[in-house]
This record gives sequence, structure tokens and C-alpha cells, in this order.
Amino acid sequence: MPRLGVNIDHVATLRQARGGKEPEPITAAVLVESAGADGIVVHLREDRRHIQDRDLRLLRQILKTRLNLEMAPATEIVNIAIDVKPDLVTLVPEHRAELTTEGGLDVIKHKDALKKVIAKLRKNDIDVSIFIDPDAKQIETARDIGAKIIEIHTGRYANAASLKEEDAEKQEILNAAMFAKGIGLSVSAGHGLNYRNVREIAAMREIEELNIGHSIISRAVLVGLENAVREMKKAISPSPS
Ligand code: PXP
Repeated sequence: MPRLGVNIDHVATLRQARGGKEPEPITAAVLVESAGADGIVVHLREDRRHIQDRDLRLLRQILKTRLNLEMAPATEIVNIAIDVKPDLVTLVPEHRAELTTEGGLDVIKHKDALKKVIAKLRKNDIDVSIFIDPDAKQIETARDIGAKIIEIHTGRYANAASLKEEDAEKQEILNAAMFAKGIGLSVSAGHGLNYRNVREIAAMREIEELNIGHSIISRAVLVGLENAVREMKKAISPSPS
């Protein structure tokens, strides 16, 4: 069974919608850990649209499991990572206008810059993973520039328009995972995984960790809603005399 890293970015998205203090991502992280997650994942974006610097620093202090920081290989964020020292950094591409990460990093195109970033992080005792499309050439280049871990982007599988397409994308992921494992890399996977499509990816023996966010936070809103309304009814009812 793979480890589960839970991405709590969208707890912060909800907080930022009002610019206030709730919901508190730190409380969410504690609940996520106590439910059995193997790690917490956050993406400190350059535009700070959800997770803020204080969230990252507080998480570093309170987590009992692992802190996986997703980030662009940008100098400002690299310096923050070196200061905060997450257990793992996952390098991802970042574009300002995107709703979410839209694909893997183009390791071949940015080879030299990425090699320097990886060396800098590893010199500071931070493990580095690269979020990457299921493509053998990209994976081989990731290994060549010093990555020990890759996270296979499962977005195309998750967004497949038909079961046939989903099957083909699943095969690509399996081939990529086998290839990566074969050349000595540790393999994670994530993006767009949900309660329906996760099973087949979780069954791939080469994949050691799954990182899942949106579907878990979405589900939490729905399964928690009845209780939340009951609690509010209780709060507005006259207290028993
Ligand atoms: N892994 C990486 C590298 C990501 O960028 C994301 C999205 O932040 C996830 C996993 C989680 O994706 P989702 O929120 O769709 O589960």
C-alpha cells in the first residue's frame, strides 16, 4: 500500500476567500495526521493565493509526519525552503494564470537551472522530488540532474474523456513508474486522483506514495456539512434552563 500525503492547500483557499483566520490549515493538518495520513503537502505559490509563509513555518514546527513543500524552482521560494527545511521539496511548474498545476516540469528544457536548484537544496539536507509527466526521457533526465524521487503527474489519466483513454493513460503511468524504479528512482504519483480513480494507481507496486488534495478536501466539505448545520442549530437555540 502506498503512503498517503494529503495536500491541504484548499483549506487555505477557503480562508483566503475571506482573508480571515478560518478555516485554519494548521488545525486541518493536525486532523489529517490523526486520521492516519503519512505526510502533509502544501504548495507555497509565488502569488500566495492559498498557503502563506506563516502556514509553512507553523507546519514545520508542529507536524509529526513529513512536510512536503511543492514549489516552483524560483530563487525567492528556494531561499524560503532552505530556511524552513521541509522534509521534501517537490519541484513543480508554475504559471500565474493557471487554476492548478497543469503538467509536469519540462526537465529537459530547464535541465541546467534545475540541476543547480537540486544541488542547492540537497546541500541543505532537503530531499528533492520532481513532478514530471510519464515520459521516459524526462524521467531519465531527472535522474541525471540529481533527483532521487519523481512524482508522476496523473492529471491526464484523471481528466481522460473516456474509459479507453483512461486505460491508455494508466498504462503510460505504469510504464513510467516501472522505468523510473528500474533506473533507481523512488516513485510517487498525484494530481486529480479521487475516490473513483485512485484504486488502479494505488495498486501499482512501483508507486510508493500518492499525494492527494482537492478530492479529499471536497469530500470533507460534504461529509462534514450535516454536522456543521446541526452544530449551528444548537448554537442559535435557547440554552437549556
Ligand atoms: N501533486 C502535485 C505535485 C500537485 O501540484 C498537486 C496539486 O497541488 C497534487 C499532487 C494534488 O493534486 P489534487 O489537488 O488534484 O489532488
